[in-house]
Amino acid sequence: MRRDPGRVAGRARGRPELRARRPARLPGYRSTRLRAPDRPVVALTGGFDDVSGPAFGQGAVEEHDADLTRQHDGEPLGERIGVSGRVLDEDGRAVRGALIEVWQANAAGRYRHDVDRHPAPLDPNFTGAGRVLSGDDGRYQFVTVKPGAYPWRNHENAWRPAHIHFSVFGRAFTQRLVTQMYFPGDPLMELDPIIHAVRDPRARALLVARFDIATTQPEWALGYTWDIVLGRGAGATPLEEPA
Ligand SMILES: [Fe+2]
Repeated sequence: MRRDPGRVAGRARGRPELRARRPARLPGYRSTRLRAPDRPVVALTGGFDDVSGPAFGQGAVEEHDADLTRQHDGEPLGERIGVSGRVLDEDGRAVRGALIEVWQANAAGRYRHDVDRHPAPLDPNFTGAGRVLSGDDGRYQFVTVKPGAYPWRNHENAWRPAHIHFSVFGRAFTQRLVTQMYFPGDPLMELDPIIHAVRDPRARALLVARFDIATTQPEWALGYTWDIVLGRGAGATPLEEPA
């Protein structure tokens, strides 16, 4: 379906909350030259056909979808970790039934994706995608391997810190958060234009998981905790490319 550009601009013109959510064009983050739109965002009125994004299948979410280490015959290489936390609204209430989708590089820093040309090995036992629904108390949990850092050609000697991509659908279909979770103590974060697209250091800190000995399983896997706060308040988890 082709959209009439005049109509698109008109739809957001009277909606300041939509204009405010346009991604920023950031000089130090080269891809934003193409990603930052020149026109206002569009209010979704056409349902699912208006939305594109990662495809995780249309079937029901199964229990094994949340364990990225058990999607193949063998176990993936790397440091096994658990990532868990709660999905909350901006008033601190649990968000039940949120769909949380993750995708990530393998332990060597390589995505199973055609355009990834980083000369690091693919792992036949790791796809790097998973999903889960939050429980009644907003809790979610994934088991995976810690992703490796990988180079990207944004600038000379540019490397992404280890991160897991998250998409979270809250109660309303239009309440979708797409962002990235980072690991504490990673020296690459200081040099990374993507996490610095979130300009407020307190908001950046909300993107960094906490090492959690309480969820670390003895003889099995390190635990990281990361709560996700949907909404617009100061404590809300920031988008990866905020306005
Ligand atoms: Fe990535």
